[in-house]
Amino acid sequence: MMNVLIIGSGGREHALAWKVAQSSRLTKLYTAPGNPGTSLCGENVLLDVSNHDDVVRFCKEKQIDLVIIGPEIPLADGLTDSLSTNSIRCFGPSQAAAQIEASKVFSKNFMARHHIPTARYATFTRLDEALSYLDHVDYPIVIKASGLAAGKGVILPDTLEESEATLKSILIEKTFGDAGEEVVIEERLSGQEVSLMVFTDGKSIAPMIPAQDHKRLLDGDRGPNTGGMGAYAPAPIFTKDLLNEALDSVLKPAIDGLRSEGTLFVGVLYAGLILTENGISVLEFNARFGDPETQVVLPLLETDLLDIADACVDGNLKDINILWKNDAAVCLVLASKGYPEKVEIDKPVVFGELPENVICFHAGTKMENEKVFTSGGRVFGLTAWANDIESAIDDVYSNVKNVSFDGMQYRKDIAYRALEGSK
Ligand code: AMP
Ligand code: GLY
Repeated sequence: MMNVLIIGSGGREHALAWKVAQSSRLTKLYTAPGNPGTSLCGENVLLDVSNHDDVVRFCKEKQIDLVIIGPEIPLADGLTDSLSTNSIRCFGPSQAAAQIEASKVFSKNFMARHHIPTARYATFTRLDEALSYLDHVDYPIVIKASGLAAGKGVILPDTLEESEATLKSILIEKTFGDAGEEVVIEERLSGQEVSLMVFTDGKSIAPMIPAQDHKRLLDGDRGPNTGGMGAYAPAPIFTKDLLNEALDSVLKPAIDGLRSEGTLFVGVLYAGLILTENGISVLEFNARFGDPETQVVLPLLETDLLDIADACVDGNLKDINILWKNDAAVCLVLASKGYPEKVEIDKPVVFGELPENVICFHAGTKMENEKVFTSGGRVFGLTAWANDIESAIDDVYSNVKNVSFDGMQYRKDIAYRALEGSK
């Protein structure tokens, strides 16, 4: 039996808490800081997760057997290392291993060292060198701040002027602060994107169901990029052959490569893949569960998540058999008016009754006087799972009426690509 602490406060953490709460091995679940959704699955605790001593003290006091870290910042900050030093078991990579996400320069150089397919690139700290490089490339480019920038550090410029202005703003004006001390300039690729996450103990890997998310604000993949307006799994475009190819050419070499460099990666490794005319290429690695992908992947997981996390931390992943439902899941993000620019918050939320195969994961909400109010841009991930993707889409959209707040906006075409793929 286990006491578990989940770190984080978004839709991903509500999905994690919801899944962990179903475990027959759970004694008590805490989420720090959590949200009104996680408070339905366990107890929320107000901990400053950047204060590692406080987290360690809490874990000792409450006899926490396992910590699960959701977001990238505590990982990049070395929370896993602080917990491990104090003999507290943690599902999530060390600071050194989390560099695969926290530093795009590290990540690109690592991929080059281990022959993992990725776009051609160069890295710069000096503006003059970056600008003169632009004169030498004869293909469209993407500019990325190397450090963590909450998903905003990737710019796809359309003209030379835009590229120059972007480089100046990152390297000189420091738009992304320290995250922009170094930049990656890489070739712009085209194709469909797939999110493939694997559980790993640092030696073996176990893939989750591949997912696709919808990053643009508006229907038909138009409008500005967002943190994600919805997701679905499985992704029919990602065939069994492509999955095996990705495991052999990307995920296994990444885990083996890190280990060969003296860094064991324990937790979830997420590969953001693009399916180009010339094959699979890696856009990014994340050192954690994806959001919103986790909201569609965990409802499809049959096996107890605590059994998997435990096996990863103990280095026994190969001994467990992970089972998945033969279903499909769809997550529709319900966002505030004005998202992703200037959002309107503090709106009261009214809930109706949801069927058993639909859950409303909280992301940007808060509780005041026992009532739920909106507190962020992406407020909920309304998620349904069913025998097939068509039914899951129907179940999500027919239940939108059961969650309402002033100014609510959402896309009307989440998972439409999967339908096209299955026809
Ligand atoms: P990243 O955080 O590196 O995954 O980038 C965020 C998003 O920017 C990706 O999901 C892609 O949609 C886009 N992107 C990143 N790198 C490239 C690339 N080399 N070519 C085309 N699009 C890219
Ligand atoms: N859905 C993309 C991410 O979690 O970074």
